Order: sequence, then C-alpha cells, then structure tokens
Amino acid sequence: MKIITFDFEEHGDERGILISLEENKNIPFDIKRCYYMYNTQPGVSRGHHAHKSLEQVLVCVRGECKILLDDGKTRETVVLDRPNKGLYLSHLIWREMFDFSEDAVLMVLASQLYDESDYIRSYDEFLQYVQTKNGEENGL
Ligand code: TYD
Repeated sequence: MKIITFDFEEHGDERGILISLEENKNIPFDIKRCYYMYNTQPGVSRGHHAHKSLEQVLVCVRGECKILLDDGKTRETVVLDRPNKGLYLSHLIWREMFDFSEDAVLMVLASQLYDESDYIRSYDEFLQYVQTKNGEENGL
C-alpha cells in the first residue's frame, strides 16, 4: 500500500508558525467539509470504517495519535505527531484512529459533505466491496 503524507510548508517568524491549507493546492481535492475530534478518552479507537468515494486529509493539529490504514491486502500504521504533517486517505481504505494523547486534536478535511450512504461500516463488507471492485477493474 502506498502511504501518502504531506509536509506542509510552515510560515514561521518570531511570532510563531502559520500553516495554510488550500483546496487543489496542498490539499489534493475540493474541500467540502472540515471536522475535528478532541477530548478523546483514553483507550478509545475511532473510525472502523471505509468510504466508497470520499477522500480525506488528516492532520493532528495538537498532540498525537495513530492511524491504521488497511486496503484489504495490507495494513500500515502512521503516527501523526506534528501539526505540519498530513495523511492522505483515499476511498476504499479501512481506517482506525487510536492512541490519542490527552491533548490530541485530530482535524479532517474531506472532499464531500457528510453522507452516511458513502460509509462501509462492516469490515467483511469492506473486503467484499474491495474484491468486487478489483475484479471489475481487471475485467472479471
Ligand atoms: P462517527 O462516524 O461515529 O465518527 P468516527 O469517525 O469515529 O467513525 O461520527 C460521530 C457522530 O458524528 C455521528 O453521529 C455522525 C456525526 N458526524 C456528522 O454529523 N458529520 C460528520 O462530518 C461526521 C464525520 C460525523
């Protein structure tokens, strides 16, 4: 699985640091939605779903957390521990977010508005969906 991360440009001076995120520039899609998670309780694991078409970029703007990515074949874990690091999540990636530090604020930029019908919330259904899609792409 190809993991795509971004090192966002920091505009820093004696006052501090500023990062700007813009659609189709350093974020590779139209930004339709932004949401964030904080006050995540110890031991909590969130996500546990994939999306049929949604693309996202995750940034832990404060604190740190880990993201597990699963494309149906392999699994990788990425640590988000600095506010200038972005993780791109394409569609059809099963994701789980865990090991949130107490101060973690995980921000997500998304290519579509919230749409429950875009979610795949069962891992078995996800595996079936990916296999069917791969089969279609290979003309099967
Ligand atoms: P949920 O999908 O459970 O979050 P997770 O990413 O951990 O799987 O979302 C929690 C609640 O927030 C749920 O009631 C749906 C709601 N929600 C929105 O209203 N808009 C959104 O953009 C998102 C991501 C969630």
